[in-house]
Amino acid sequence: GCSSGGGSTETVTPGTAPGFQPFEFQDGSELVGFDIDLTTAVFEEMDGYELAEWETFEFGSLIQALTSDRIDFIAAAMTITGDRDETIDFSDPYYSANQSVIVRSDGSFSPSELGDLSGRPVGAQSGTTGEGIIQDELIANGELEESNYTSYDNYVLAVEDLENGNIDAIVIDEPVGDTFANQRPVEVAFIYETGEQYGFGMRTDDDDDLTSAVNDGLQTVRDDGTYEDLTAEWFGS
Ligand code: ARG
Repeated sequence: GCSSGGGSTETVTPGTAPGFQPFEFQDGSELVGFDIDLTTAVFEEMDGYELAEWETFEFGSLIQALTSDRIDFIAAAMTITGDRDETIDFSDPYYSANQSVIVRSDGSFSPSELGDLSGRPVGAQSGTTGEGIIQDELIANGELEESNYTSYDNYVLAVEDLENGNIDAIVIDEPVGDTFANQRPVEVAFIYETGEQYGFGMRTDDDDDLTSAVNDGLQTVRDDGTYEDLTAEWFGS
């Protein structure tokens, strides 16, 4: 499309990491989810920008894909953290979430707090805040041996290993843990409150126009009810 008024249109290549329902996942050959729809809605409100096709990566490679110009925009349920904020720019927060610990739903292991994971084989997705909790709250203080932790390229592989009995628990964002619990023989054992906020990621060296245009677009879709419709569609609330 062309922007009105004769200005030039900037094409933005968005990137995500599927396998994280309901935020981003493959439905057959189609990439779908809350982040995909929200990004589309936000860019529809932004004059002078258009979205290219989505590129997909493992979550742990997304920031590098952005800083090396392979993509221009991250929508991946990415938590705004101080560390990441040193490397990339975040939009205003668009979603809040806690972590959850999920286990097999056969009742064989029912932890109720992080310390109960001590001595158990556990997993998380590489580069996530869930992995950070295992490292900082369990391994760093000696409650868990490094060798008891498996870092997975994505959470789908982790859940398969949980079902197979190769690991006993996974630390994962709560909305995604809930979704796996609805679809697979796993359940949420307990919530670990982190109050994380997700933001869209952009390069810091881009002029701030893109970030402020995204923030304006986000505000518009919140004000006009689109955001609420999308949360109802993807989270049923
Ligand atoms: N919110 C967590 C984080 O930022 C997990 C995000 C994982 N996202 C994904 N698309 N796999 O570390």
